[in-house]
Amino acid sequence: MLPKYIIDPSFSQEISEYTDCIVIGSGIAGLSTAIRISRHIKVKILTKSSLSESTTWYAQGGIAAAIKKPDDWEKHYHDTLKAGQGLCDPQAVRILVQNAPRMIEELIEIGINFDISEGEISLTTEGGHSYPRILHAGGDATGEEIENKLVKYAKSIDHIEIYPDYLALDILTHNKSCIGVMALNLDRDKIELHPSSNVIIASGGIGQIYELTTNPPVSTGDGIAMAYRAGAEIMDIEFVQFHPTVFRTRDGKLFLISEALRGEGAYLRDCHGKRFMLGKHPRAELAPRDIVVKEMIKVMKETKCDFVYLDATHLPESLLKVRFPNIISKLKENGLDLKKDLIKVSPAAHYLNGGIKTDYDGKTNIEGLYACGEAAATGAHGANRLASNSLIEGLVFGWKIYKSILEFLNEKNESIEGEVIKRVTELGSCMGETIKESNCSKRPSRRELSRNLALEDEIDTVIHNFRHMMTERVGILREESGLREAENLIDSYLNDERLYNQKNKKVIEFINMLTVAKLIVKAAILRKESRGTHQRSDYPLRDDRNWKKHTILTKDKIYFKNVG
Ligand code: SIN
Repeated sequence: MLPKYIIDPSFSQEISEYTDCIVIGSGIAGLSTAIRISRHIKVKILTKSSLSESTTWYAQGGIAAAIKKPDDWEKHYHDTLKAGQGLCDPQAVRILVQNAPRMIEELIEIGINFDISEGEISLTTEGGHSYPRILHAGGDATGEEIENKLVKYAKSIDHIEIYPDYLALDILTHNKSCIGVMALNLDRDKIELHPSSNVIIASGGIGQIYELTTNPPVSTGDGIAMAYRAGAEIMDIEFVQFHPTVFRTRDGKLFLISEALRGEGAYLRDCHGKRFMLGKHPRAELAPRDIVVKEMIKVMKETKCDFVYLDATHLPESLLKVRFPNIISKLKENGLDLKKDLIKVSPAAHYLNGGIKTDYDGKTNIEGLYACGEAAATGAHGANRLASNSLIEGLVFGWKIYKSILEFLNEKNESIEGEVIKRVTELGSCMGETIKESNCSKRPSRRELSRNLALEDEIDTVIHNFRHMMTERVGILREESGLREAENLIDSYLNDERLYNQKNKKVIEFINMLTVAKLIVKAAILRKESRGTHQRSDYPLRDDRNWKKHTILTKDKIYFKNVG
């Protein structure tokens, strides 16, 4: 019983000006798309934290593109398909890998400095890549370099209006068309309606639904949850990628140790010191991520240790210093030396392969609603994303959205703007300071939402228990009875009416986490096989005959689509 809007739009207190395009989220996908579109029209960026707080910032390893012979797009294409375990959409992958090199050129044009070695862009490899094609920056600070430069660039553009501390609540729709966004202005504690005929969801992933994640606190699945409530199709959401090598700091925080370290030759050893990937895959430690995680889980169970070791002690110190300055310094803070010590690591939730289903132009099934980046399911990742294909995917499909919006602008009918404002006004029905009394059709009296906290005393505990349950029942290894238990618990939370119609950020994020968790569980129950990042102990084999297809969930129906 999920309502269409988690806060009734008639609670809104303000309607802002119409704009042709709103972007939700400020990672690489959102910012690069906004920057392109701003060459033609004004763009609003809504972001629930500061502009630079996104998963992009934390990306260490790099960004994949076949930029140097003998590598080429076809090799990148085949590696991506292979990692995706039969579930990639080949055309989406082709679009991704063919356009990747030009995206890199554009990043360089706006001042992003990739690491150089002997006068050329330095390339490394990671799991599943048959050639070195990962560009990196600042050694292991690729995301930071990209995000900082994009933020700086976006801030310098007059046509970009930045709304930090704006928590997007829901996509406003009328007759299956997008007409804007309802958002909570966190600074002023006000609900606002933002009319627009084009909304791009680029709000990132869902890692926070798990106890252990590499994702920042903002990754609560908001964009996917609000798209679903609005009627969008959600595809392949059961495929959650866990990163193999995550380090726990002294103060209990998690810190990703980039796969690029294994790309440069580091080993994985069980807690007794034995290399366990040898003989398990031709590329040993550089097998695709899902395979490494599967072996790690097995080994951790056999050895009764809750970690394995990452061993870089045989690598030259000079290489480690240049390539991994941040990792070295983080380990040092924790009393460890990458050159001398074995590093304890274990898997943590890292990336959602599925998400809001889009076509090759980034369009969803709701007119005027687009998605890109981790929130989107373009079909390029299949059942397991190839390492370092995420930043590049955000750029390529953001660029496709830009082209779609240019088409919209060329064909734009003058009446659209007035129509959208009228519809949004009807939804907001009379509460707004900018709405005239004559527009009131629903509620004549002014309503205010209080900040009363549903579950005020319990919310932290409830979220903690929910994450624990997700890790246990819906984590790396799943089975029917655990999934059913998870479903019942999630439903009981989602049916708690106290959660709705209130302005508390934590509660709103919790509704979104529950919503994406419910979708993951539902799809995981349906997919009775093991493939890529979806592993079921009760169906341990990949089943191409019955399951070489995408799972698609909407509020009204569930269906499957054969791989294109
Ligand atoms: C890493 O640096 O290991 C993360 C890269 C990725 O997730 O693609």
